Formats: sequence, C-alpha cells, structure tokens
Amino acid sequence: MRDELKIRKAIMKDIPDLIAIVRGVKSIEDYPGEYNRNYFIKMLKGHFVLSAELNGKILGFAEFEMDKHAKRVFLESIAIAKEFRGRGIASKLLEEVELFAKNKGLKLISMLVRDWNTDMNYLVKKKKYRKSDNFYLWEKRLS
Ligand SMILES: CC(C)(COP(=O)(O)OP(=O)(O)OC[C@H]1O[C@@H](n2cnc3c(N)ncnc32)[C@H](O)[C@@H]1OP(=O)(O)O)[C@@H](O)C(=O)NCCC(=O)NCCS
Repeated sequence: MRDELKIRKAIMKDIPDLIAIVRGVKSIEDYPGEYNRNYFIKMLKGHFVLSAELNGKILGFAEFEMDKHAKRVFLESIAIAKEFRGRGIASKLLEEVELFAKNKGLKLISMLVRDWNTDMNYLVKKKKYRKSDNFYLWEKRLS
C-alpha cells in the first residue's frame, strides 16, 4: 500500500502528536504557554487547525484564524516534526490554508515570521509571499 500524506482538520485524538511536535521546536518562544493538553484543546476549539497525517501519525500542523471583515486569514503557527522536515509537508499545509481562504472568498493570508527563521522565510518566499508594506511590528520591552 502506498503511503499518502493526508491534510485534514485536526481532532482531539491528534493532541499527543501535536504536543510532541511543538515540544520539538527549537524556537519555543514562538509557542508560549505550557504546551499541555489544555493548551491544545483551547487551540482546537478557538482556531482552525489542519493536521498533516501519514499512516496514522501526525507529522505537522497549521493553525490559523479567519477575519471575515478584513477578508484575511492569519496564520498563527505552522510546525513540522523535525525528522520530517524538508519533504514538502509545510508547503502542502500552506497550500491547503490558501485553498480554505479562497473557498471562503478571502483575499489575503498574513503571518509574522522572525527574521532569523531561515527555513520559514525560505518557504514563504518560495510560495510567493511578499513583505507587507502596511505594518511595522512595534515593541516595548518592560523592565
Ligand atoms: C519552517 C518549517 C515549518 C518548514 O517545514 P518543511 O515541511 O520542512 O517545509 P517544506 O519541506 O515544505 O520546505 C519548503 C522549502 O523550503 C526548503 N527548506 C526547508 N527547510 C530547509 C532548510 N533547513 N534549509 C534549506 N531549505 C529548506 C525545502 O527544501 C523546500 O524547498 P524546495 O521545494 O526548493 O526543496 C519547519 O522547518 C518547522 O517546523 N520549523 C519549526 C517551526 C517554525 O519555525 N515554524 C514557523 C513559525 S512562523
């Protein structure tokens, strides 16, 4: 039987795999909180989450929000299990998010990516994303 990657809506049963993926992400600051079951239950209830599944195992996910008023999807996070990176899984997830947005009549996909995140910046450029002219990220560090 041929192995086939499935992109589908994330369900509660995926949570242990999702936890393992997020805990394996080096830049843990991108995933604040405890990364426990409750964190993911909230995520699945409050946001759209797509899982990438191969032979019953979740290899990655994309989490996003829909802003109908702004006709925009905002990608909150996307992550792939370390040993399965570089195989086009994030690309497929992103394509599905784009399809979702198009089907809903939305016109824009936005996300924040850290400047040092080479892998993600490479991926979005390849997928024809452009830096926004409309926003600066303003920050104030509190002492
Ligand atoms: C960024 C991330 C989601 C990419 O996932 P992925 O499944 O490896 O991405 P893909 O395989 O679809 O890669 C897309 C392109 O990037 C390239 N790429 C991915 N990782 C790369 C690396 N380390 N070095 C060079 N190119 C890389 C792939 O080769 C591919 O290009 P190609 O089609 O020309 O070969 C993954 O590295 C990850 O989970 N990182 C940690 C979490 C994270 O930073 N998320 C983003 C927060 S905004």
